[in-house]
Amino acid sequence: MKPHSWALGLLATLFLTGCEVGPKSGQGFRLPDGDTEKGKAAFLSMQCHSCHKVHGVELPAPGSKAPFDVTIGGEVTKVRSYGELVTAIINPTHGLAPGFDAKKLEDPKRSPMPEYNSTMTVEQMINLVAFLHPRYNQLDPAPYYRYYAP
Ligand code: HEC
Repeated sequence: MKPHSWALGLLATLFLTGCEVGPKSGQGFRLPDGDTEKGKAAFLSMQCHSCHKVHGVELPAPGSKAPFDVTIGGEVTKVRSYGELVTAIINPTHGLAPGFDAKKLEDPKRSPMPEYNSTMTVEQMINLVAFLHPRYNQLDPAPYYRYYAP
């Protein structure tokens, strides 16, 4: 690796991790291990599957079908971290799922996902993350790594 690519790599790392520091960062965040089966049960009991398919998992038909069909998991360039999944569930408007076309929404800045924070238990959230996280498969390395690979 040439010296300048080290410097660029370091800068990119500083830039990427730079967003993670500060009093409201997720620094130090760590979930306990969850139970995937209980996560699946929570997913069904909260009717998450009225709007979601889960990659590689057969789910029964939902009680009612919402006008959304967002697949969770599948081939992605970057696997969602635990922090990103928790955020997607308890603070969905913070960042809409990559590739989700918000143009048709009444308010394109606001996630149409319902609010679960006053009803979902912490245990359910932990189990949901344990259920959903392994559904993401890492695609090719990001172009940045390809470019700088020796
Ligand atoms: C009424 C429809 C609806 C329901 C019900 C719903 N969601 Fe969503 N969800 C969405 C939409 C639309 C998106 C894409 C926009 C966004 O990121 O908020 C999304 C995004 C997500 C994402 C981010 C996916 C990614 O790859 O970035 C996760 C995780 C998720 N939902 C989990 C859940 C869970 C868990 C439940 C049940 C507790 C649930 N959703 C219920 C509509 C819904």
